[in-house]
Amino acid sequence: MDLGNNGLSLGEQREAALTRTAQHVLNAWHEFDAAREHESLPSESLHQMLTQPLPDEGSDVLEVIDQAVEVLDSSLAQARPRYFAFIGSSGLEVGALADLLAHSYDTNLAVDARAATELEWQAVSWLAQFIGFPAQTGTFTSGGTISNITALASAREAAIPGARERGLGNLRPTLYCSTEAHYSITRAAEVLGLGSANVRAVDIDSERRMRADVLREMLQRDVADGGTPVAIVATTGTTLTGAVDPIEELADVAEEFGVWLHVDGAYGVPAAAVASRSHLFAGLDRVDSVTVDCHKWMFVPKACSAVLVRDASTLAKVFSHDEAYMPHAGGHYNAVDITLEYSRPFRALKLWMLFSTHGANAVREAIERNCDQAQLLFDWIRDRPAFETLTSRPQLSIVPFRAVVLGCSDPDAHNGALCSAIQRDGRVYVSPATIDGHVWLRPCFTNFRTTSDDVAALLNVAEELGVDCRVLHS
Ligand SMILES: Cc1ncc(COP(=O)(O)O)c(C=O)c1O
Repeated sequence: MDLGNNGLSLGEQREAALTRTAQHVLNAWHEFDAAREHESLPSESLHQMLTQPLPDEGSDVLEVIDQAVEVLDSSLAQARPRYFAFIGSSGLEVGALADLLAHSYDTNLAVDARAATELEWQAVSWLAQFIGFPAQTGTFTSGGTISNITALASAREAAIPGARERGLGNLRPTLYCSTEAHYSITRAAEVLGLGSANVRAVDIDSERRMRADVLREMLQRDVADGGTPVAIVATTGTTLTGAVDPIEELADVAEEFGVWLHVDGAYGVPAAAVASRSHLFAGLDRVDSVTVDCHKWMFVPKACSAVLVRDASTLAKVFSHDEAYMPHAGGHYNAVDITLEYSRPFRALKLWMLFSTHGANAVREAIERNCDQAQLLFDWIRDRPAFETLTSRPQLSIVPFRAVVLGCSDPDAHNGALCSAIQRDGRVYVSPATIDGHVWLRPCFTNFRTTSDDVAALLNVAEELGVDCRVLHS
């Protein structure tokens, strides 16, 4: 076939490029099955390559693929089974294949793309069924931050109809979340013009869940003072400790005051689908909107979040436009009418391929395993006098713990040093967090590859390296 003068096609190297890439991917997948003994750090030649100026002429694609893999292999990969920092994603194999397919076809999802659009609706519906939320519609976004902004934009329009056109005038909007809500809620208040000073941080109980009684008092006071409540945000698993706010109690308050109830389940709401945790999510069927990060505990690669809403018209009320170049065939909404984004990758495909390939039960089992690992670690720590945990058992899969050193003058410095030592060592990877003003190690289990041996390795490495830190800080 004549490819003309097309310098951007791989032409005759297509097959070789695909084969080489497939070989690398296969190696990576095999490697990710088990932990590696040592991290591969960036080499001097890699540093040099990464400071080269813009190339006017290209290089052989096979060499470039090898270079790209060297970069990836010398980077922290959340897909590895002993990556316990932040809230990781797992680079699910079938999700990576979905991305390759989706990016190759590069479908435009702003308007009706035919079958891809139908698949997007189906993926939204499957996700809603999985977590048990009666969504009428929803949309895929780049992450929990954007999903939260999307939901809260709808809440603002519902509380203050016409705000998108006329702004907020003299109104004083208020937004409610727990003191341990993710900071994307504050960012949402900032970008939506609600003002971060109007975000009310509601006290938490002994299990670090938002207190509905305090929320009610705050709402009463704000309404009496002429405030306009826009939304209550329940976090169902907090980023810090995995606490699940009591949705049912918060839904009662939301109904009492006629306020939008949003669930930020970016991390934790997939656990609503598993037998041992579903009771924590009672009342999910009563909320107005839910954020779910499929790139967290649904295991697919970044970036894939979803915002689900009970009433389809609420998203359109805030996002739809009627532009000359945006046809509305048959009076239907275009996808762009319910999203903040215009051009979007086909994120739904990876979730759809996850459910189609493995089935919902396999996803439930993987989530349940992560919850079991959290309970296991909690019990093991309780048996080791060198460490302490929080007083209550993990609600989901985050288990903050810290080293206890008798006579240590600065336990926070000790635990900070221990965390850095673990990161430098490289056998396991964990991040620190400040809880009630103190430094803790904060492992989170959201990887389907993690085994109980990997969990044991975390504690063993912490114990081993803790000895050196003790010398430094006692
Ligand atoms: C509870 C919660 N909400 C929102 C976010 C933001 O998600 P993303 O990083 O996908 O924007 C996070 C991230 O960890 C989170 O834990």
